[in-house]
Amino acid sequence: MRHRAIAALGAAAMLAGALSPALSQPVIAGAPTSVQPAAVTPAESGRLTGHGGPVMDLAVGDVPGIGPVALSASFDNSVGLWTLGNVAAENAGVGPLVPGTPRWLVGHKAAVKSVTPLGRGRAVSAGDDFALIIWDLTAGTPLHRLEGHKGAVADVAVSPSATLVASAGWDGAIGLWRPDGTRAGWLEGHGGAVNALVFADDDTLLSASADGTLRVWSVAAAAETRVLARHGFAINQIAVDPAAGWAAYGAVDGGTRIVSLGDGAVIADLTAGRRPILALALSPDRAHLAIGDGEGHVMTVSTADWTTEADMKVAERGPIWALAFAGNETLIAGGIDDSATIIPRTGLAAPAIGTAERTFHRDPAMMDNGERQFQRKCSVCHTLTGDGGRKAGPTFAGLFGRRAGTVPGYPYSDMLAGSDIVWTGETLSALFDLGPEHYVPGSNMPMQRIVSDGDRTDLIEFLRTHTE
Ligand code: HEC
Repeated sequence: MRHRAIAALGAAAMLAGALSPALSQPVIAGAPTSVQPAAVTPAESGRLTGHGGPVMDLAVGDVPGIGPVALSASFDNSVGLWTLGNVAAENAGVGPLVPGTPRWLVGHKAAVKSVTPLGRGRAVSAGDDFALIIWDLTAGTPLHRLEGHKGAVADVAVSPSATLVASAGWDGAIGLWRPDGTRAGWLEGHGGAVNALVFADDDTLLSASADGTLRVWSVAAAAETRVLARHGFAINQIAVDPAAGWAAYGAVDGGTRIVSLGDGAVIADLTAGRRPILALALSPDRAHLAIGDGEGHVMTVSTADWTTEADMKVAERGPIWALAFAGNETLIAGGIDDSATIIPRTGLAAPAIGTAERTFHRDPAMMDNGERQFQRKCSVCHTLTGDGGRKAGPTFAGLFGRRAGTVPGYPYSDMLAGSDIVWTGETLSALFDLGPEHYVPGSNMPMQRIVSDGDRTDLIEFLRTHTE
């Protein structure tokens, strides 16, 4: 029912990918498509608005004392917690679903790639800072930080009894953790990044990897039981219905298959000529499977006979990274935009995402070099003025002459908060001449150098004139 994280690409690379020309027109091949893609109507309601970066994952759960909630994992380093008070009304067709004001769970030091409820008012998230965080959703605070992966963590899964958390590492390892924050072990054997995980039961874990395989593990034995599928291309996503005996997977080449949990035989091939598949979600009653791709489509399929129920173009210009069902009929979809959209049961009246004019969509040839440097290398994490919404990094408003680590309310690393640097042309130049990891070791700034003196000078001039 919950959705898994994203493809084996760095987040920045994915953003860059969103700029490249679309692949050829979608050809609806294998899937028994009965509905043509319907463009969704833009509107301001029905959105989860407030993140300052793309939405990488979504999940829905119930929190004692709060009720139904949606959780969103974002490139802006935070997890959003949204109340969904009237989810039942929406599912009964007397909606609409109106999300409450979000609360922000702040603690990750880089983009958050995955989030899922952990029961008893908790959730677990993971991301590009190689760490998992277990959250107390009622208090909105972190309970445990789980470290040990040597690469980004692309997905987290929770066992049905909520006694174990599994994490998918781009270091090739699967981490097993107890909800008290202790590590239960590692599962190793994949020959590439692990992209997605799902438990079939408390002892049976399925994993999907960039090595092109779908594997089954016994958690109790801490060992691989079998390879369920060899797809040849990186597999990004999985979903499972243990009672019905199938697993679904979506791959980077667009391959979307349903295989038997018993012997791996292909039960249905939903490949629709669209790629890559970046999101899968199963409704709580397991009647509907939703599939999101790199071209902004969301397709829903009936798991009774694998026919297409709806096919929508939800994002005009970019990938669908996140899908989750709120109830059995309503979908929430997220991607390149800073907001997620609620797709009601009619499937047609959802506000589109991916329509916002994002700075990196502007033609770089129309910008001077300084602006181009900023748009390409900084704008996804920093605003020039304080009113650009939540971002992973602090705003640049008033940057020159400002002491490092002093924007009120921004969760700085101890290193930057405790530093005595004052931002000037010279210190900014040094920051990107040496690279943040050398200039302010231990800060949360991403590793990045700008080696050309001209590019650094142009960028600093642009910042000086646009941040006053
Ligand atoms: C992937 C996100 C990301 C990108 C891209 C990025 N930054 Fe940052 N930046 C951060 C984060 C996170 C921090 C806060 C670091 C900390 O608290 O240790 C930060 C902090 C800073 C600071 C310190 C601000 C202060 O208030 O002390 C400066 C200056 C800065 N970045 C400049 C840049 C410039 C210039 C670029 C583009 C060349 C850039 N950053 C690109 C995430 C990013």
